[in-house]
Amino acid sequence: MLVSFEHVSLRYQASHTVLSDINLALMPGLFYFLTGSSGAGKSSLLRLIYQIEKPSEGRVVLFDKDTSQLHHSEFPALRRRLGIVFQDFRLIPHLTALENAALPLCLAGAKPSQVNAHVTELLNWVGLGDRLHARPFELSGGEQQRVAIARAVVNKPKLLLADEPTGNVDDESAKKLMRLFLELNKMGTTIIFATHQQNIVKQYAKPVLRLKNGRLVTSFSEAA
Ligand SMILES: Nc1ncnc2c1ncn2[C@@H]1O[C@H](COP(=O)(O)OP(=O)(O)O)[C@@H](O)[C@H]1O
Ligand SMILES: [Mg+2]
Repeated sequence: MLVSFEHVSLRYQASHTVLSDINLALMPGLFYFLTGSSGAGKSSLLRLIYQIEKPSEGRVVLFDKDTSQLHHSEFPALRRRLGIVFQDFRLIPHLTALENAALPLCLAGAKPSQVNAHVTELLNWVGLGDRLHARPFELSGGEQQRVAIARAVVNKPKLLLADEPTGNVDDESAKKLMRLFLELNKMGTTIIFATHQQNIVKQYAKPVLRLKNGRLVTSFSEAA
């Protein structure tokens, strides 16, 4: 299993229970939708996987490791096997598309000269080959999101977490983004694609993790 949740609950401070007794086993290589209305706990569940949040109860097991038992020195290596794409892109404003996408490699110690060819190829793949040196404010929402996707996959993660990646772009850009995620999945990356947009979920025959009232129900979407 790539990810498993065993009786996971999550409460923020003393507030209501956001996630309640979640059990989950995700297989490598699949594309999962994570859905539920706004406030259902989708981002919280992704944060539990990305290790920015700890469960109030239960265990999160990642790559066969019980994350509650990890030493803090083991987190960077674990995170390098994960990629994450946020709804609001979170690009660094003064860096170019190329520099933003190369950032995880540079933070891991690579020199720009060593990685530029690879990152350029990746930006070509997301369709930004002619926008390498543009800064985020010069790019459309869909283009910024494609830079964010390139940055998330530059480390070749085993698991890609995408939190409402099509939430802030028009329908046409959303379709193009969706194609990129499906292609990445075909190449072997496991994907968890969180969205409240049922029209997107309904278009593809994929496993669906649906959150409602803190509980998780797994099903399979039937493409219309
Ligand atoms: N850091 C936080 N502190 C307190 N409450 C939070 C925090 N993050 C999220 N919540 C609450 O948890 C619930 C689930 O939020 P979230 O995971 O963002 O849902 P979704 O992504 O499905 O919209 C909401 O009621 C939200 O207000
Ligand atoms: Mg959210």
